[in-house]
Amino acid sequence: LAEDGSQLWLRFPVKNGVSADKIIVKGNSPTLNIAKKELMNHWQGQEIELRTDKSLQNLKGGYTIKSVQNKLVISAEKEIGLLYGVYHILRLQQTKSAVTNLNITEKPSYDVRILNHWDNLDGTIERGYAGHSLWKWEDLPKTISPRYEEYARANASIGINAAVLNNVNASPNMLRKDYLEKVKVLADIFRPYGIKVYLSVNFSSPKVLGGLENSDPLNKDVQRWWKDKASEIYKLIPDFGGFLVKANSEGQPGPQDYGRTHADGANMMADVLKPYGGIVMWRAFVYSPSKEDRAKQAYLEFVPLDGKFRDNVIIQIKNGPVDFQPREAFNPLFGALKKTSEMVEFQITQEYLGFSNHLVYLAPLFKETLDSDTYSNGKGSTIAKITDGTLRPAKISAISAVSNIGKDKNWTGHHFAQANWYAFGRLAWNHGVTSEQIADEWIKMTFTDNEKFINPVKEMMLTSRETAVDYMMPLGLHHIFASGHHYGPEPWGDYKGGRPDWSPVYYHQANAQGIGFDRTKSGSNAVSDYFPPLNEIYGNIKTCPENLLLWFHHVPWDYQMKDGKTLWEELSYKYDTGVKNVREYQKIWDKMQPYVDEERFQNVQSKLKIQAKDAVWWKDACLLYFQTFSKMPIPYDIERPV
Ligand code: GCU
Repeated sequence: LAEDGSQLWLRFPVKNGVSADKIIVKGNSPTLNIAKKELMNHWQGQEIELRTDKSLQNLKGGYTIKSVQNKLVISAEKEIGLLYGVYHILRLQQTKSAVTNLNITEKPSYDVRILNHWDNLDGTIERGYAGHSLWKWEDLPKTISPRYEEYARANASIGINAAVLNNVNASPNMLRKDYLEKVKVLADIFRPYGIKVYLSVNFSSPKVLGGLENSDPLNKDVQRWWKDKASEIYKLIPDFGGFLVKANSEGQPGPQDYGRTHADGANMMADVLKPYGGIVMWRAFVYSPSKEDRAKQAYLEFVPLDGKFRDNVIIQIKNGPVDFQPREAFNPLFGALKKTSEMVEFQITQEYLGFSNHLVYLAPLFKETLDSDTYSNGKGSTIAKITDGTLRPAKISAISAVSNIGKDKNWTGHHFAQANWYAFGRLAWNHGVTSEQIADEWIKMTFTDNEKFINPVKEMMLTSRETAVDYMMPLGLHHIFASGHHYGPEPWGDYKGGRPDWSPVYYHQANAQGIGFDRTKSGSNAVSDYFPPLNEIYGNIKTCPENLLLWFHHVPWDYQMKDGKTLWEELSYKYDTGVKNVREYQKIWDKMQPYVDEERFQNVQSKLKIQAKDAVWWKDACLLYFQTFSKMPIPYDIERPV
């Protein structure tokens, strides 16, 4: 076996599966053939029957696995459900779980489980840290990389069924005929694995590509252009999924350029996709330099439009109201749109979490958002329930995440970043699975089932997100990254004359009195975007959770925290704890050498070294800078800045 990480979690026993006569299946199709091949290559258990069963329609792409006498029967309405069932039993086998007496019913939490690739047509990836793009646009449509199919298989194995191929900062060229022909080739390869292709589109395409006078959504010529484009796309790709749109955000064109609303823009596109069953994922990531708190802007723009969107439009909302920070309060738009479908956008690629250098397991971050109670329909109105159709029957439910995949051998840059791709897929399939269960499965599948490895490594993974928060931005601090690349600390960044909303000093507001962004009634009043009782809880310094304290409050340096320390001391100890934990991870990993191949051992070891150095850098930079305001001593028992 190659140990370069290229096999991801798909390390099943090779070419050692059951013979063809142990697989009972009617029919023959590309998807069924993949299912059969996987079993013949890797399944070492009992006889298997694969049955399509139209009565299982309510499982919406799910499946059942049942032990019937001496065989296992996998049933599903659709063939893709059978393939998912096959990957399920292979996972059970690989994790040494029971494969007898099974009575499993699986129904996905979301209809559309989608990766957003921020890949550009020139092969670069926005915020990509695993090499260049997997899509070789220059070689397509003629030359086909074997990795296209490997990618599809990896996604299918965890239930991901959709991919946006290109950057949200979309080139109009994506919709050019020659590019669509390339896209068609990828769509054909992905189809048997149940993956639909979607594209990010540039709102100015009619003008730039079609030579029209403008791209005004109410202009009949513009509407006609999109209609023709849709027809051209669907001729090539009959199951094309739809469009993802970043409009009037960070300089991208949009309907507001013509005095129209997001709804006007989204609906125009929804109308042309509707006859083919396509959808529009319209992003709510909008903000502009203004006096208004950035955390409030999307809410202000979108809430008045509630109910004005077509039923094949979903508003795609980042988990937090600022931008994929190590920790944010959840985005108050969730639950605020009562008559409009909403979906979460997570970021798997670690733009704000140490790129592919830091080991940060993201399942706890994803779960924190999904489990957040918005109180929109009373207690228990979690983001999971708002977006999965439980609380508001959605025509179509979806969940997305910005991919961390590139053409690196190990796909994701850091071996442990594979776990974040895996975790997103597993949670998109079933948001009820715990972070621990997912880590457990992933470790067993990717490394070993030796307890001496699993337990310490799992502990390291499960604490790693909080550790990163501690050494970067504890207690609700946010966006104090170096500008542009977002790798290291730059809390002193003050882009006078530039955009204040891109300046770290705007976010931490440190001064002689204290630190933190006042979002209470005396400040920006962003707390009022939250439903009661959250507005009160967050708005009151005494009841605000301490891990969001500086998100919502400007707090005096000598403020007494729950454990009796002053805010300054608490902040100092948090940074120090972050550093100490990473050093602990290094020790843990060093002890894992006997249980892991040398190649991956050394790779992770050297990355942890970088992470430890970076953690110290963060701690020293932030504490020394903030100390210029607090004028308080760094506690004697924490490591001195050098
Ligand atoms: C962040 C990121 C950008 C990206 C943007 C988006 O601001 O830094 O690179 O384009 O998010 O999500 O649209």
